[in-house]
Amino acid sequence: MIELKNISKLYDLGEVKVNALKDVNLKINRGEYVAIMGPSGSGKSTLMHILGILDSVSGGQYLLEDYDITSLPDKEQARIRNKHFGFIFQSFNLFPELSALENVMLPMSYAGISYRNRRSRAQELLEEVGLGHRMYHLPTMMSGGEQQRVAIARSLSNDPDLILADEPTGNLPSDKGEEIMVMLEKLNNKGVTVVMVTHNPEQGDRARRKISIRDGALFSDELIAQGI
Ligand SMILES: Nc1ncnc2c1ncn2[C@@H]1O[C@H](COP(=O)(O)OP(=O)(O)OP(=O)(O)O)[C@@H](O)[C@H]1O
Ligand SMILES: [Mg+2]
Repeated sequence: MIELKNISKLYDLGEVKVNALKDVNLKINRGEYVAIMGPSGSGKSTLMHILGILDSVSGGQYLLEDYDITSLPDKEQARIRNKHFGFIFQSFNLFPELSALENVMLPMSYAGISYRNRRSRAQELLEEVGLGHRMYHLPTMMSGGEQQRVAIARSLSNDPDLILADEPTGNLPSDKGEEIMVMLEKLNNKGVTVVMVTHNPEQGDRARRKISIRDGALFSDELIAQGI
């Protein structure tokens, strides 16, 4: 599905330059469930931003279904991102002035879906994540776990092929984190590709593949046997 070839990312702050990714080669296949682990500052979020086409690369190639998207114009990259990818962040990243329903509807408006269809789809998704009774709540009126479930519903609104989750349970108590994990696993069982950053070794072991990154470079990449 995705192939990164010799990807590097340099944050150039004038006098200070940070080599956040160095010559990363990585293939992600359709249907995989990948955990990305590594110390703080090792480049995990940078890698997620690159995978999600949220940030540009400093060098190398990004192939999506064998098609090099590295040099596409921003607008085209945004279209691909909106159509194929769903994002879940540690800090939920909901729009504070929008209700749960409106937050979930938003990505669909960029995709040109009618108001009526956006609304009914958003309602359906919120019901799926167990928030049918919180549709008109603002993020500040919801618990962390509820906000993250809204974020999951939102990430699913355009039927993504790939979900990128950067420490999705990082700000949640463990029982609420577990609910999020189960949701991601269910999605993966339905065929959605999931890439998740986690600091939690147990969560890492529940993925099918575990990649660890150190100092901007891939350090290990292992398949995990499940169901033993
Ligand atoms: N926008 C930026 N400008 C400059 N440097 C940055 C920027 N974003 C990240 N960095 C630097 O790049 C390196 C990798 O950061 P990144 O956020 O990818 O780490 P991480 O592995 O996600 O860490 P954490 O586990 O703490 O979230 C760090 O040294 C960080 O300081
Ligand atoms: Mg990070």
